[in-house]
Amino acid sequence: MCGIVAYLGDKEAQPLLLEGLRRLEYRGYDSSGIAVLNGKGLEITKRVGRIDQLERALNSHPLHGSLGISHTRWATHGKATDINAHPHTDASGKLAIVHNGIIENYGVLKKKLQDKGLQFRTETDTEVLAYLIGFHFDALDVETGNRLEMAVMEALREVTGTYGLVAVHQDQPDVMVGARRGSPLVLGIGQHEHFLASDTAAIAAHTQTVAHLRDFDVVTVDRQGYRLKSLTHNKAGLEISQINYDAGEADLGDFPHYMLKEIFEQTLSIQNAVRGRLNLEECTAQLGGLNLTPQELREIDRIVITGCGTALHAGLVGEYIIESLAHVPVEIDWASEFRLRNSPLDRRTLVLAISQSGETEDTLGALREAKRKGHRVLGICNNVASTLARETDGGVYMYAGPEISVAATKSFTSQVVIFVLLGLLLGRMRFLSASQGREMIAAIEALPDQITSILKQSDHIRRIAEKYRDIDSMLFFGRQMQYGIALEGALKMKEITYIHAEGHPTAELKHGIIALVDEKTPSVFLCPKDGAYDKNVNNMQQVKARKGSVIAVATEGDEDILQHADDVFYIPEAPEYTAPILSVIPLQLFAYHMAVILGRDVDKPRNLAKSVTVP
Ligand code: G6P
Repeated sequence: MCGIVAYLGDKEAQPLLLEGLRRLEYRGYDSSGIAVLNGKGLEITKRVGRIDQLERALNSHPLHGSLGISHTRWATHGKATDINAHPHTDASGKLAIVHNGIIENYGVLKKKLQDKGLQFRTETDTEVLAYLIGFHFDALDVETGNRLEMAVMEALREVTGTYGLVAVHQDQPDVMVGARRGSPLVLGIGQHEHFLASDTAAIAAHTQTVAHLRDFDVVTVDRQGYRLKSLTHNKAGLEISQINYDAGEADLGDFPHYMLKEIFEQTLSIQNAVRGRLNLEECTAQLGGLNLTPQELREIDRIVITGCGTALHAGLVGEYIIESLAHVPVEIDWASEFRLRNSPLDRRTLVLAISQSGETEDTLGALREAKRKGHRVLGICNNVASTLARETDGGVYMYAGPEISVAATKSFTSQVVIFVLLGLLLGRMRFLSASQGREMIAAIEALPDQITSILKQSDHIRRIAEKYRDIDSMLFFGRQMQYGIALEGALKMKEITYIHAEGHPTAELKHGIIALVDEKTPSVFLCPKDGAYDKNVNNMQQVKARKGSVIAVATEGDEDILQHADDVFYIPEAPEYTAPILSVIPLQLFAYHMAVILGRDVDKPRNLAKSVTVP
């Protein structure tokens, strides 16, 4: 789970690689490294820690050359150390590779190479791959321009596992070879220059012409251009496309952190998710990307929603929304579980895979499993150039713009609003009247202003966070459509503050969780004015009776809540299906301010990565 950028062209590689790595830091940030080929051979610099560490090292000793590979790492095999960082070299030290993925049979391959007398320097699977390619390179007793390409292909035939990789060799100083299986790799085609990268974000500032490699593709780039081969003898060429990505959108602007910027962008991202998708005449939603006829939509009798992390929490809110608006049974499952389960799907079941990045390995595994069984799989996705976007039969794009902070915020609210649109569309085909549809549209259209009014409370929320800065643990409770928000509020808190936090359905309080309540463990109750209000208040009283502090997320104008809660975050009045989009925002801000107060690395919390591309 890492990010790769490689460059071959007529410019200095180092600054382009560093800039690309910064755009890929969301894929991991335990260590980073760069290798450049120049007249003197292969030069490598790598450092544990953030890319700043690498940049500092390169500032004192720059690497000159116009062919280079680079990598930002999230450790899978081997600790995050300088030596385990990529690029890795082969036994001769003349070949270097960067790799994203996992070589599953690396133990067997390592043993085989050790038996031939080779000694390894690290504990990583990638070093084994480098040695294996180097072994084939040396064994190929041919003076051919294809030697590196042939060595990579020979080696990959022995490998089981996943890879997006780029290899270079100092005996072929004008060639880089990229290959993909399971981990993304995109070729960027510029003027007298080519890039290979894990994601278009890394290269979009330099070229908008790209081609996504497919599994088993091997691409060789030299000073003349590129050529494609396939380990499976697939004859299809690369599909070249133009990306529409504004690298400037990913800049921080005046905000101190991407997370805060992205929380504040929600006024806009919600509008982008909804734009062009409301049909005022028919009082419904229109989601053309689903690629389903009205008849096919009517025939759906079950929906399975799958995803990971925050995306799954959005799905959980979506489950309640779709069941209540469209009366279609919905099941929700972690992608990591779903992909291994023998879920009894049938022709009328729709599988919905949700992912901001569209690159989460388990979500892709789940969608492939469902497709293998012949089911229609649709996606809800932000990254239009992602694997998920390419592999699903259709879906809905979020158009939230780049989300850089590891903790997902705007992608969550965009996903939930898409579920509201889906609920409206399916509901209007079944039970909802035109006037109910009209009311829903009004509620959706009210969201941007309502979000703006919540964002104005940011300072108030910071003051409350200050009050709770010394806690070790926190509980979050919500019911029905607010249950997913309790989970999401807890996830935000633990991800970026490292404070232990748990989310639960409110009524579960009495079934064990209440044992955790004490003066140092505050509870957050999602308690807007809805059908569960009185029950929520009862549970708050039970917490207060045990000396626990209570923070309530309540509806504006609800003064009674002040009798039960120590602190209140107010949200505007909204129907229960749009209220979760509002109630999550104070919790995002609460976690954000708490993390800043505690001096945490808000955008890049420890041990996490934005996109989990390993199973
Ligand atoms: C990682 C991130 C989470 C994210 C999850 C799913 O765990 O740290 O913030 O929710 O992946 O990511 P996806 O891109 O599939 O939505």
